Amino acid sequence: MTTAQSPVDLGVEPTPLALLLLGREADPRSERGVECPGDLPSPSDPDLVERARAAKEKLGDKVFVLGHHYQRDEVIQFADVTGDSFKLAKDAAAKPEAEYIVFCGVHFMAESADILTSDDQKVVLPDLAAGCSMADMATAEQVAECWDVLTEAGIAEQVVPVSYMNSSADIKAFTGKHGGTICTSSNAKRALDWAFEQGEKVLFLPDQHLGRNTAVRDMGLSLDDCVLYNPHKPNGGLTVEELRNAKMILWRGHCSVHGRFSLDSVNDVRERIPGVNVLVHPECKHEVVAAADHVGSTEYIIKTLEAAPAGSKWAIGTELNLVRRVANAHPDKEVVFLDKTVCFCSTMNRIDLPHLVWALESLAEGNLVNRIEVDKETESFAKLALERMLALP
Ligand code: 13P
Ligand code: SF4
Repeated sequence: MTTAQSPVDLGVEPTPLALLLLGREADPRSERGVECPGDLPSPSDPDLVERARAAKEKLGDKVFVLGHHYQRDEVIQFADVTGDSFKLAKDAAAKPEAEYIVFCGVHFMAESADILTSDDQKVVLPDLAAGCSMADMATAEQVAECWDVLTEAGIAEQVVPVSYMNSSADIKAFTGKHGGTICTSSNAKRALDWAFEQGEKVLFLPDQHLGRNTAVRDMGLSLDDCVLYNPHKPNGGLTVEELRNAKMILWRGHCSVHGRFSLDSVNDVRERIPGVNVLVHPECKHEVVAAADHVGSTEYIIKTLEAAPAGSKWAIGTELNLVRRVANAHPDKEVVFLDKTVCFCSTMNRIDLPHLVWALESLAEGNLVNRIEVDKETESFAKLALERMLALP
């Protein structure tokens, strides 16, 4: 559980997954939604770039700015390092001298940075509404209930939890407590190899697609080895026999941004652009990944384009800020977005220049704002799971 400011009283009990208007009100049990407590600069202020630069210069080595590849260009220009979620977790841990870690990314990434940094380092998320709808799809209560179901089916002792980085600190702590590891899209196969050395079955949280794609595409398991646990149905919607026969128990979560890409998008682009290479993120559906030429994390996508020959053609299935940046960086290659409809990650996009300027100027004036702080007990178990990931061969 993370501390943030107290909720505005709406006169209603928030549901565990209350969908709040982005940037308004709060549900402390959810990844999203609070008003910005300070005075945000106007987005039309022509001095925003200069203000961010000046505040960052004033803070000097006290601040370290991390930027995920899905961040806007206006934000990423101020990042000291950029990366996928695995690289950023390592980079956050490697800067013990910085008093403030400003995380330009989403809530679960900032929580992970807090867990991996020392107690006197403060992690700041410029907009607390920058959550992740996938991470919201697995709550601590639901996962505890799932574990009870596995225990009653007599299989809990054979199951190793593997949780995607895109999960709350509570879920990471559950994973650590039950002998499991965290993974990201760049090390999911290594995490599963490790998990199947520890036990016979894996409970994969919360992204069914990364779990299924890694199991089937990279580990040689079959689709029949996988079952889907639906937290909204009694016993996950599964029989005891189905649970006992499964090797991979996939949580029913997904990313709505990557969920947009379909087999039709792949077929369409192959027809429109003969010779195109289709490159997708493993959060895409299994049929999309199966039809693609290359699959990998955001860092992998960037490196693949860097290594590609001039004149080659690419259709990329991931968040649009990254696809646009990659296209601009390689004018000698043809780079298109895999889907016909544009698709940003709305929560990643919550971090904009006004929020970044506000956060940096507040810190430069000595006001600590939007701190992300995981409580000690959650942190100790979550850290265990994160460290198991960092130690993967
Ligand atoms: P990466 O780990 O590939 O950066 O992905 C993070 C993410 O949120 C993708 O949706
Ligand atoms: Fe979450 Fe999807 Fe956005 Fe990644 S792209 S932060 S998984 S909603």
